[in-house]
This record gives sequence, structure tokens and C-alpha cells, in this order.
Amino acid sequence: MNRKFSTILAMAVATSICGSAFAQQPGETGALGERVEQIDVISMTVSEAADEGLRIFTTPFNKLDGYGDGPINPADTTTPGGRPTLQGNGTLLRVNGLDAQACFECHTLVSNATVPATLGIGGAGGTNSNAMFQPVAMDPGDGDLDGIAGFTGRFINPPFVFGVGGVELVGLEMTADLQTLKQQAIDNPFTTVVLETKGVNFGVIQADGLGNVDTSGVLGIEHDLVVRPFGRKGEFPTTRDFDVGAMQFHFGMQSTESVGVDNDADGDGVVNEITVGELSSLSVFLSTLARPVQARVEGNAVAGEGLFSSMGCADCHIPTLQTDSQLLPLRFPQVATDPWQNVYKYVDLTKKPAGFDPNGNGGVKVPMFSDLKRHDMGPDLAEDFGLATEQQNREFITAKLWGVVDSGPWLHDGRALTISDAILLHGGEAQSARDAFEDLTDAERIAVLDFLRTLQTPKPNQGGGGGVRPHPRLQSAEVTDTGVHTISRRD
Ligand code: HEC
Ligand code: HEC
Repeated sequence: MNRKFSTILAMAVATSICGSAFAQQPGETGALGERVEQIDVISMTVSEAADEGLRIFTTPFNKLDGYGDGPINPADTTTPGGRPTLQGNGTLLRVNGLDAQACFECHTLVSNATVPATLGIGGAGGTNSNAMFQPVAMDPGDGDLDGIAGFTGRFINPPFVFGVGGVELVGLEMTADLQTLKQQAIDNPFTTVVLETKGVNFGVIQADGLGNVDTSGVLGIEHDLVVRPFGRKGEFPTTRDFDVGAMQFHFGMQSTESVGVDNDADGDGVVNEITVGELSSLSVFLSTLARPVQARVEGNAVAGEGLFSSMGCADCHIPTLQTDSQLLPLRFPQVATDPWQNVYKYVDLTKKPAGFDPNGNGGVKVPMFSDLKRHDMGPDLAEDFGLATEQQNREFITAKLWGVVDSGPWLHDGRALTISDAILLHGGEAQSARDAFEDLTDAERIAVLDFLRTLQTPKPNQGGGGGVRPHPRLQSAEVTDTGVHTISRRD
């Protein structure tokens, strides 16, 4: 195609996007198919609703569904709604969202630690699926020759979404506890109240006699005392909160709960791109996904588990948090500070596929290896995002380590290609634990890695006919007396 023709074509495409030409294409339909409303979800069983959610998670949206943004918004070209497309292709942007057609495109890698790789819906993503969030300056050619390809924005690797139902319930119960403690502070002015819930300390608060609460002593969460387990920065209390933004950022699919009913906020000629019911069914689907599992801790891994705890890893990566209830409340509209308002459905987390173990006290065990708290991880791991403070750029929520052997690459941007790299790149509040790991003997380090390798994703086809086997790279290197490393297979 000659250049002139392609330019004209690009302009034609750009013009047709500005109009609503995509809203009608004889012989073509939106990919979403039959629409699901909240009233439908309310009357569905959990598994029926989860099925709808699965369908939505795997739908490749097209422009008849409302994929994409409308004309650019000259006042704000980076927030979803008015973004340009890359080289005027009319569809994709890639460097600030509009980077995929379906959720599952980035969430497919159940394990790259098996042969063959285990693929499945809800997995993690490799670095080619990284999201680039609101970059304003990119310097891949290193114009200033400082050896750094500058990038002012966020570069984030997709985690898997297995077990999120349990994570969400832990977060909601923590939030409820913290709100109660806040009320306690208001009822007892001038008394310091320690913000501790489920063994995690979120600092202190104190109220004056007028009901004003001093939150300057709050640690690792926002001052509204809402625990936000989702997103690598700990920004979203529920998967629903996350999904509203994901739909908009990745696909330009605007939900009615963010822009209103019958409102074409992005001007792409389509209204009601995602309904309340569709997001509800997506929540049901996500919260019923299977949780990661742990292989038996035996052999070397026993010593590794001890070291994990004695080095201080378990202070942040708390192996198991317990819930008081077995039922996850799904709510609409959601009130962040009151997790029990407007419940439209409960998901029993003990039921398969989620399959959390009851804890004997009416709740479940959530073995996620996190404290759901944000930590300063030091300057080397910090992001360079212009809309965040330097402190915010250094903070991340403690990564959940369940499934860690299967979910590489590791760390928020996927920079760690081995688990050892991930540990050695810890800094800030984790500096002393990191140094303790560095100071271990080879045999001790191997034991820690053997322990971490017991933490696996749920694999539907493992062990069955035609199943998968561990990748040879997951062999333990044993140090012999002569210092020669020999290789023995994992399990
Ligand atoms: C272009 C790749 C990409 C696509 C498409 C994508 N995601 Fe993600 N997903 C990510 C990244 C990157 C993160 C981490 C984001 C962060 O830390 O803020 C993530 C995180 C999540 C999380 C939070 C998990 C956690 O434990 O913190 C959920 C839930 C999720 N995605 C659901 C979805 C849904 C639902 C869709 C479709 C509407 C979707 N994703 C589409 C890349 C993607
Ligand atoms: C101060 C809290 C803290 C301590 C202590 C800590 N970590 Fe972490 N860990 C984190 C945070 C926060 C992240 C996420 C960092 C990021 O994404 O860049 C993380 C990430 C990881 C990851 C990568 C997980 C993934 O999915 O990307 C591994 C592996 C890990 N930690 C292991 C350890 C081990 C082993 C120790 C002890 C030597 C340890 N951590 C000590 C907070 C901590």
C-alpha cells in the first residue's frame, strides 16, 4: 500500500470513528451477545452467574460493543474516553491502554513451570502483556545517554486472579474491623487506638473531643482505613472496583456505573457498553475461581519454611490470614467503608471451584502469603510515575506468594526472571530480610527456594491423563562436599 493511500485510509478510519459508523454494520454484531442485567444476576445461581462472568472475561469486544474511545479529548488525551490511537490505526494504542480485546488475553498463564506450559483462563501474563499506564515520556532510544530508557508512567505485569474471592473477603473483614476501631477512637477522645486486625498492624489513630480523627499515624493503607487488596499498589478494595477500570483502560468499554445509563461519554456512538449485571457476573466468576494450592512441605523445604520465617519474610508475607465468615458478600452499589451494605449475592468460598478450607471457627483459611499492606520497597524498585509522589512510587502491597512458582516473571513489572532475583531486589522495609537471604549458605538458599516452590497455582489437568510435568529448570541444585552442584528432580 503506498503511503499516500494509507494516510487517506487512516483519515477515513479516524473520521468514521468520530461518527457512529461502527454502531451499525449489516451482518456483524457486537461480541457480547445477549446482555445481562442486575435483575438477571440476582435470580441466577452462583454457578449460572459465574458462567456469564466467564463468558464476559473471554469476550473479544469489538466496536459494536463500544470497544475503543471516541474522538480525542484535547483537554485530556490520557484518561480513558478521549485517547488517540497509535499511528492513527483507529483501534489500538497499546502504550496507555486500548491494549487488548479481552480480559483473558493477559490472564492466561496458569503455569510456565510445567511442560507443556499450562494455559487457562485467569492466569498471569508474561511481560509482553504488561500494561503501560499513562506514560507521558518514553525514551527507548536513551536520547540523553544516561543508560536508562526513561519511562515516566507505570509498567505493570499481570498477576493471576486465582483465589481472589478469599483475598477480597479478608480485605472486607479487615476494613470492617478498622472502621470499628475508628468509631472506638471517636468514642474515646485523646486515647491512642492501635489499628490491628487479623494480626496486621496498620498504625495508630487518635480522635479529639470534636470527633476529628488524627490519621497521621496510619501505616500501609489510605487514611479512610479501607484495605485495598487489589492492584500491585493496593488501590482497589474489590475486584469489581478493579474491573470497572480495567474495562475502561484496556478496551475503552465504559460501564454504566462509571458514566451513567444511556450516556455515550466517550462519544463512540455506543451507550451502556457494560451493564451493572455484567460486572456483577464478572465478580461472581472471579470470586469463585480456584485458589492456589500448596504441595506438601517436606525434605529440604522444611528447613526453607523455617528460614522464611526467621529471616522476617513471613512478617510481610504472612502465610495464612483467617476470615470470620465463609460467605463473600457481593454488593451493589458498594460502600467502601461498610462491606455489608447492598449485598445482592453471597459466594460460599468453601464450595468448589474456590474450595477454601474451613478454619473451624466459621471462617476459611486464606493461605495467600500477604499482609495486604503497602510497604516502602526502596528506591531501586520504585516506579517513575509523574502523578504519584516519590513515596507512593516506592510503595507496593505485599505480593501474594501463593502460586509463586508458576507465576513468573516476578515483581510488579516482571523484571525478576528468577525467584532469587525477586528476593534480592527487595529493598526499603524489606532490606534486612533481603540481606539475610543473601547471607545464607547455598544449601540454605536452595531450601528457601524449595519451600517457595511448594506454592503452586491450581492446575486442572495436572496429574490427569496427558497431564503436565514440572519443567526441568525447577530441579534443586544440591551442593555436594566438593562444592560441585548436582541436579536432582523436584518431587
Ligand atoms: C493488557 C493486559 C491486561 C488485560 C487485557 C486485562 N488485565 Fe487484568 N491485570 C493486568 C495487569 C498489568 C494487572 C496488575 C494491575 C495493577 O497492579 O494495578 C492486572 C490485574 C488484575 C486484577 C487484580 C489482581 C490482583 O490480585 O491484584 C484483576 C481482578 C484483573 N486484572 C481482572 C481483569 C479483568 C476482569 C479484565 C478484563 C476486563 C482484565 N483484567 C484485563 C493486565 C491485564
Ligand atoms: C517489608 C515487607 C516484605 C518483606 C520483609 C519481604 N517481602 Fe517479598 N515482597 C514484598 C513486596 C511489597 C513485594 C512486591 C514488590 C514488587 O512487586 O515490586 C514482594 C515480592 C516478593 C516476591 C515476588 C512475588 C511475585 O509474584 O512477583 C517474592 C518471591 C518474595 N517477595 C519473597 C520474599 C522472601 C523470600 C522474603 C524474605 C527473604 C521477602 N519476600 C521479604 C514485601 C516484603
